[in-house]
Amino acid sequence: MFNDGFVDGLESAAKAVLPDYVYGYFAGIAGGGESVQDATELWNTVRFRPRSFTNYASLQTGTSVLGHAVDTPVLAAPMAQQNAATPLAEVAMARAVRDAGSLLGISTNTSVPFDQIASVGAPWWFQVYVMRDQGLSNALVERAAAAGAKALILTVETTRLTSAGLTIDPHFWPESPSKKRLGNLLGEDLVGLPSDATESSQNLSLDVIEELRDRTGLEVVVKGILRADDARAAVDAGAAGIIVSTHGGRRLGASVSSIAALPAVIQSVGNDCEVYVDSGIRSGVHVAAALALGAQAVFVGRPLMWGLAAAGESGAASVLAHFTQELCETMAGIGAGTISDLTPDLIA
Ligand code: LAC
Repeated sequence: MFNDGFVDGLESAAKAVLPDYVYGYFAGIAGGGESVQDATELWNTVRFRPRSFTNYASLQTGTSVLGHAVDTPVLAAPMAQQNAATPLAEVAMARAVRDAGSLLGISTNTSVPFDQIASVGAPWWFQVYVMRDQGLSNALVERAAAAGAKALILTVETTRLTSAGLTIDPHFWPESPSKKRLGNLLGEDLVGLPSDATESSQNLSLDVIEELRDRTGLEVVVKGILRADDARAAVDAGAAGIIVSTHGGRRLGASVSSIAALPAVIQSVGNDCEVYVDSGIRSGVHVAAALALGAQAVFVGRPLMWGLAAAGESGAASVLAHFTQELCETMAGIGAGTISDLTPDLIA
């Protein structure tokens, strides 16, 4: 099994410095955690058929996502509560991402005002949960667009974490700066609304894709798709991209893993949209596998959170560098000089 100990080492370092409830929240999974276990194991089972007689002068990991050039296909997943990992929170993450030439997702639950994130200069997509009071999520997407978000990530599933005896839901954390979230909603936005107004809506129709696009002028990437029919429907409803994701195993314990769901999703959407994948990707070898299977790029979540908690900006930077370096080594080994050389024939 592929395991160079890099991510495990960061997780141990993060666990050592985080309060138990914060570590419990970041590590939290749904049910028995079957899907997250399967995911990394399945990424590890991929075997390549390396090419000989290749001819390239240097390895290039540059590619594009929704037409935006990036230096690496290793992108930073949107993750809530980064302020509990390090005081600079998304600002630290964005600096690491900017310096790596990558792109980051910004969670609805960020504590940091969009302008501060934007001023770092990294390209970012805003992850939105449609809220029970849709006026609130509409206000958020408008503010994100005005601050310079380059696309929206519409998450179409929500988490169901098990707590294993810990009070891991941030609502129940002790009062502290790291408990703050929804930093882009204002006090007056919430006046007169019920206490569950910011919870995720339980009625989500495909029309929301076009509504969000019309409201902001931004492309909408739909995250959390695991079925070919849902992927096709989302694209037909106007999605510009799909993120095949189990939310890092936080949605449903006994879920199909994202690597198992990926091929059917790619087949169902053809060239009509870009497909990305996350959940369980723990090395650059997995990144090469995902791209060879047809993903345009991958999102990495927990490894970056562990890096951020263990060493702030430089910890997150080390994860992006490590995964991209392993991707380069894998590309050299399989005879792929560029990202577009990562094609399905490489998969045994
Ligand atoms: C989570 C939600 C907030 O995974 O996306 O915790």
